[in-house]
Amino acid sequence: MRILLIGSEGTLGSELQRQLKQNKQYTVFPYHKKMLDITLNEEIDKVFFKVKPQIVINCAAYTDVEKAEVEPAKAILVNGTATKNLAEASDKVGAIFVYFSTDYIFDGEQNVPYTEKSKPNPLNVYGESKWLGEKYTIESTARYFIIRTSWLFGRGEKKDFVDKIVDLSEIQREIPVITDQIGSPTYTMDLASATLALILTNNFGIYHIVNKGAASRYTFAQDVLSYSKEHAAHISMIDSKVYPHSARRPKYSVLDCQRFLDVFGYELPNWRERLSQYLKEVSTKKEW
Ligand SMILES: NC(=O)c1ccc[n+]([C@@H]2O[C@H](COP(=O)([O-])OP(=O)(O)OC[C@H]3O[C@@H](n4cnc5c(N)ncnc54)[C@H](OP(=O)(O)O)[C@@H]3O)[C@@H](O)[C@H]2O)c1
Repeated sequence: MRILLIGSEGTLGSELQRQLKQNKQYTVFPYHKKMLDITLNEEIDKVFFKVKPQIVINCAAYTDVEKAEVEPAKAILVNGTATKNLAEASDKVGAIFVYFSTDYIFDGEQNVPYTEKSKPNPLNVYGESKWLGEKYTIESTARYFIIRTSWLFGRGEKKDFVDKIVDLSEIQREIPVITDQIGSPTYTMDLASATLALILTNNFGIYHIVNKGAASRYTFAQDVLSYSKEHAAHISMIDSKVYPHSARRPKYSVLDCQRFLDVFGYELPNWRERLSQYLKEVSTKKEW
């Protein structure tokens, strides 16, 4: 199976690349931004012609939620228009197209987990651009998987929330973290293996895939420090209203993964368990 992996050096892309390379079933063609800028349509055509993919997994995205507020056209170009071009190119060559989306397409007004049927209503430009990418995907091909996920952590060059909390704990005694945003932290290793299970099926459509359980940013940060090495820092509570953010975020964006459970008969383990395992592994290898 020939897999074109786009955005192969990002947080999720690098984990997918690692898992795909371990599996002899797949021949993976990883493309990072310097090899393929997805906003250049002629480059997409050249890469598709060269690789002749059967599956296209797009991990390339504009993910800076704050910056998207000041350069919305760029976020829309990368997450929306470029997604359309990739989905159309996939359709033309008969390849399955995989697009990752986000809990930020929801407005957070619910107090029960969002299902695949819940109505999107993004509060910020990033969420808007990712929802546009979903709509373009659905319009452009029938053979798609849209995987909505949230609050990723895992190995990789890019700093995620976990890395940022660990870094701050080395320079600050007190780290203020928001209490009024609730979501599902998700380990890239689990998301990547669920994605690889999904693409072996023809059960196309939208899926919510996150680790089980929910947390506020505050409790997530507390867990990070409690599972990582000795430190003197402590996490203090702060309300998002007093935190200087330009992008609005949903107060509650837990995703309901029932559809994935129905198809595969399993759900991803609890985020807390996985965070603890992940932090043990990285601290043993002295990566921090
Ligand atoms: N991280 C999360 O918490 C989270 C939550 C929900 C959904 N998601 C979704 O999950 C997917 C993967 O996210 P991630 O956290 O792995 O993102 P990430 O670490 O920011 O990786 C995205 C990659 O895309 C690359 N990229 C940006 N613009 C590009 C372009 N024009 N052409 C080609 N590559 C480009 C980036 O390169 P540069 O860094 O060099 O720009 C980066 O390597 C995304 O679709 C994201 O929206 C993520």
